[in-house]
Amino acid sequence: MAALIAPSILSADFANLERDLGRIADADYAHVDVMDNHFVPNLTLGLPIFERLAKVSPIPLDAHLMIENPDRWAPAFAEAGAASVTFHAEAAQAPVRLARELRKLGSRAGVALRPATPVEPYLDLLAEIDMILVMTVEPGFGGQSFIEGTLPKIRRAREAVSESGLDVWIQVDGGVSRETIERAADAGANVFVAGSAVYGAEDVPAEIATLRELASKHSH
Ligand code: DX5
Ligand code: ZN
Repeated sequence: MAALIAPSILSADFANLERDLGRIADADYAHVDVMDNHFVPNLTLGLPIFERLAKVSPIPLDAHLMIENPDRWAPAFAEAGAASVTFHAEAAQAPVRLARELRKLGSRAGVALRPATPVEPYLDLLAEIDMILVMTVEPGFGGQSFIEGTLPKIRRAREAVSESGLDVWIQVDGGVSRETIERAADAGANVFVAGSAVYGAEDVPAEIATLRELASKHSH
């Protein structure tokens, strides 16, 4: 499975989002962190801005919803044109119903897990989802350090996906950089979100290529 790179625009210049989407045109997805100041102690952007980003982005959008009540709010992001919509397991009332609704609207459906949330309850439901997002930091902020203790969870998720024969992607988000991406890939991740590592780089396209190359060496 090829490694997919999804830079997070949380580390972009919020006054120049269109320009900064252009800087990651070589990546596979643009990862958009939606935070509501309730599910996480930070506030970023909502639907009106997301709708505009979907119109101007050169690459598909990967929405990561760190919000309460995704059952109510997530479908609108699929309607706005997100290629993938990921909601948090801890916040969803009816994750299977929501995933089915997102798929029906033409989006991929992802379930995100905070570092302390177990993956096991979702392993019997793999047929209902397109991606598991294993958070490798506590969600809310960019620039935090990768939590090594999440690696066994990535490994268990990958084993279950392989056993199932289903094409469920495993995404990692938080502290992903040249230093950590190989361990995440080796554990079984195939989609890599990186914010500060990409936008903080001198040469953004070169950094995306480097991350992709490092991850691909370990691809499953
Ligand atoms: C954190 C966000 C991440 C964030 C990652 O809650 O979900 O997408 O942008 O930033 P880095 O790569 O800097 O850890
Ligand atoms: Zn994210």
